[in-house]
Amino acid sequence: MNLKQKVMTLDEFTIQELRNYPGATGQLSGLLRDIGLAAKRVNVEVNKAGIADILGEAGKTNVQGESVKKLDEFANEQFINSLETSISCCGVASEENENFIPFHDEHSKKSKYVVLMDPLDGSSNIDVNVSIGTIFSVYRRLSPEGTECELEDFLQPGTRQIAAGYIIYGSSTMMVYATRRSVQGFTLDPSIGEFCLSHPNLKCPVDSDIFSVNVGYYHLYEEKIRKSIDHFMARNENDRIYRHRFVGCMVAEIHRTLIQGGIFMYPAFGKYSSGRLRLCYECNPMSFIMEKAGGVSMANGKQRLLELKPAQLHQRMPIFIGSKNMMDTWQHIINE
Ligand code: AHG
Ligand code: MN
Ligand code: MN
Ligand code: MN
Repeated sequence: MNLKQKVMTLDEFTIQELRNYPGATGQLSGLLRDIGLAAKRVNVEVNKAGIADILGEAGKTNVQGESVKKLDEFANEQFINSLETSISCCGVASEENENFIPFHDEHSKKSKYVVLMDPLDGSSNIDVNVSIGTIFSVYRRLSPEGTECELEDFLQPGTRQIAAGYIIYGSSTMMVYATRRSVQGFTLDPSIGEFCLSHPNLKCPVDSDIFSVNVGYYHLYEEKIRKSIDHFMARNENDRIYRHRFVGCMVAEIHRTLIQGGIFMYPAFGKYSSGRLRLCYECNPMSFIMEKAGGVSMANGKQRLLELKPAQLHQRMPIFIGSKNMMDTWQHIINE
């Protein structure tokens, strides 16, 4: 990095953005800063997961029927607490809670935004020191300000997102978020404990040579899906060679796809007959970010994912997402 260049922190950046838009109330900027603060607290625990008594199963089952790890719980609490204290959020829905949580205090009731989140994504990676993440999605409430938020505030189509983002706890910790205008990436500088703008105006490469899907379920996918996967698998060395990656953490897959391009698929199969990933907590926020970065996200060969109206908070959805050209090729094969 050029040392003469001033490194802008997340706080500085959001305040500068606010100055450029005189009509803005600052609630969204405040919300992003509050999420950043919670992320820093979670990051501290993630970093010591191996030594602290925070590693491993908490012995409970969440509403998805999966066992809950202690870090999932810790992250869930941190983000909820931070959002409740925030002056910008009137309620939150989380993968870890069956129902949405309305905030009862007067300040929160006056706030404009609701947040949906997956507080800890890729939790099976915790025990093996592989990347994990947090995903969040922000909507303007439909219910009147001054009242408690309602279920309908959380069940809006993804196209109505005001902002969405993720935190990746990887070889470094980053926060990436999209607003209607752009996608910005910040890297946590541990020496000052601040997220610093490191990836301004992120754009997903239009083409790439990476495909990502759990091929362990290959024979369980429907025929067209198998055919589209086959396209990316070389038969001989003269074929175009694609590289296969699968981390088992959607945040890591999407982050890689944003930086290096590629296609990530999580199709429906067998017990996950509607897909595995959650529409509101995972698919919608990632699709919003990807589209803002110039990529494409589909729920099937014909349906743009962001246009779906969620029927339930914990609904699942197949997802096919990534670089424009690879997604065009994929759609072509699927619709043949
Ligand atoms: P979570 O840890 O929030 O439950 O999500 C994990 C998800 C997702 O991030 C990942 O892509 C997928 O589970 C991996 O599942 P499989 O290993 O079964 O493919
Ligand atoms: Mn989970
Ligand atoms: Mn997840
Ligand atoms: Mn999770």
